[in-house]
Amino acid sequence: MEKILITLNINGDEHQVHTYYTRTLLEVLREDLHIKGTKQGCRAGECGACTVIMDDKPVNACMVLAAQAQGNTIVTIEDLAQGDELHPLQESFVENGAIQCGYCSPGFIMVGKALLDKNPDPTEDEIETAVSGNICRCTGYQKIIQAIDKVANNEVVS
Ligand code: FES
Ligand code: FES
Repeated sequence: MEKILITLNINGDEHQVHTYYTRTLLEVLREDLHIKGTKQGCRAGECGACTVIMDDKPVNACMVLAAQAQGNTIVTIEDLAQGDELHPLQESFVENGAIQCGYCSPGFIMVGKALLDKNPDPTEDEIETAVSGNICRCTGYQKIIQAIDKVANNEVVS
């Protein structure tokens, strides 16, 4: 199979990669570009571990072909912390015990960011709906919802 040249805008930087047109955005991020904060879980659109923000909307990177993502703005978890300073959502996940093994956390944090960017004052129901496509095997979800809610209510300042 022939490779094609793909140009992706990731976290404000342009990346060019020679890869197969069948490669997903998740594969290109992790395997071609070695941007590994976005996690791989089910690879079937079921777990949300691979969530990135594309043109202001959360998407499962395992369900998007990298070639389709050209011309879009992609934001990954690597864009959130500024140097040593965590993003308020990251801070809140730590403070509220919303991280245990942490494998699901990048996906939940990106979903939370997409929600709060659009709706800075969501109800608990709206937070629950926003995270409903993401699976966590450890926390029981309540702490994750609480962590997002505390940022919405400015109770976490990083
Ligand atoms: Fe993409 Fe599970 S790895 S949704
Ligand atoms: Fe372990 Fe969510 S903290 S899967």
